[in-house]
Order: sequence, then C-alpha cells, then structure tokens
Amino acid sequence: MRRRMAAGNWKMNGLRADLAEIAAIAALRPDCEMVLCPPATLIAPAAAALGAGGAALALGGQDCAARASGAHTGDISAEMLADAGASHVILGHSERRADHGEGDKLVAAKVAAAWEAGLVAIVCIGETEAERAAGRTLSVLAGQLARSIPDHARAGHLGVAYEPVWAIGSGRTPSPQEVQDVHAALRQGIETRFGADVAAAVRLLYGGSVKPENAAGLMSLPDVDGALVGGASLRAESFAAIVAAIDAA
Ligand code: PGA
Repeated sequence: MRRRMAAGNWKMNGLRADLAEIAAIAALRPDCEMVLCPPATLIAPAAAALGAGGAALALGGQDCAARASGAHTGDISAEMLADAGASHVILGHSERRADHGEGDKLVAAKVAAAWEAGLVAIVCIGETEAERAAGRTLSVLAGQLARSIPDHARAGHLGVAYEPVWAIGSGRTPSPQEVQDVHAALRQGIETRFGADVAAAVRLLYGGSVKPENAAGLMSLPDVDGALVGGASLRAESFAAIVAAIDAA
C-alpha cells in the first residue's frame, strides 16, 4: 500500500548547466515516486524544462521558512517553492540543524508551513556518532520524531527520512539489520501517536551514503520505503541504479 520513493538531495550543488542532468533523471520511468530537490534557484528552470513530460519527476525544496511571508530577508516560503514548481520539501536535514542551529520546534513549524502550502514534507532525523556510541540511537530518534512533526499529520503529506549524521557523505552506513530495527521502531512510534492507518501509509526513507553498491541490501528491508540520496543523486547514472534497486525491492 506504500508507494516507494526515491528522493535526491543536491544540497548546494547545481547550476543551470546541470539542467541536462535533471532532464536525464526525468527521463527514467520508474515504478517508484521520484523526487529531486535541487537548489532553490534551479526549481523554476527545472520545472520549465521538464514541462508536461516531467511528470515522472517531482521537484522539491531543501528547506522553507516557518512563516508564510513578510520581513524575513533571505528566506524562501513554502508557497514560493510551490509557485516555482515544487511539490515536496526536505525539512530538518542535519546540515541545517548543524549549520543554522535549527531545532525540532522550528522544524515542526516549517513542516506546518509546508503543509499549509500543500507540499509533502520529508522530515529528516538522525543520531550523531556519539549518541550511537552511547546506545542512545532509538531514544534520540524518538524525541526528534515526536518534536519535529506537528499533531495534524496525514500520511500523504509526510515522509520521514532516517539519516544517521555519521553516515551522511561518509561512505559508512548502519547494517541492514540496524536500519530495519530503527525503521520498525519509527513506524511503531508513528502508530502510537497518529494511528495504524498513518503508520501503514507513511513512507520511511533511509538516507546516508546510499550508493548503487549498497542500495539493494538497504532497500529490500520491510520497513524501508525508499531512499534520500545526496552525492549519488548528482549524476543520473548513479541515481538510476539506486532507483532500479528501489523498484526491484
Ligand atoms: P549522502 O547524503 O547520500 O551524500 O550521504 C544524504 C543526505 O544528506 O541526504
């Protein structure tokens, strides 16, 4: 009942010269839902370039403001993302939590703003290496999950990405069993709070050094519904291999 999702996060990479790479990704015709989150400057040109033929590729932002509009220099509202052609937005990524001091409460406000604008929010949570070493992974994640998602969650507008901070960009990942254990616990937490229907329908993505080489093992886990991919989404060829692993799972 859950349609799998392949989401790419280009982070602060990508110029108009890279629109051809986005077109190559859009030319894939997977069974799973495919979302690419380029830098905000590329959303409108990508949407224009994709046109009607881009239906297989949804576009997303990497952040949005918690407020709807007003005197907030440099911020981009959820409505602006939607207006540019985005249908999704990544929120609470650990790089924003670290670089901009974003806490769970702010993330929850941004999620509410995204929903208000009709966007699907992909909410990122993850433990640090020190928290993992201290055996606190599940409790840290449970707290982030509880505080980063507003009360009125609906499965269709929410994805959760488990991204261990130490796995992002490092080439290291948890073992498949560890990922499955975490995802099962997250789904249980979502069920307790939002009910069985939401828990059964919400997509739980794994992110952090997903590559063509490890995608099959991670994507075949029962509670993994797709991937949030950073570095390996920058090239259509490597992203396509991950998308294929998601489809095959
Ligand atoms: P990575 O990034 O795939 O390059 O590790 C994932 C992410 O930060 O979303």
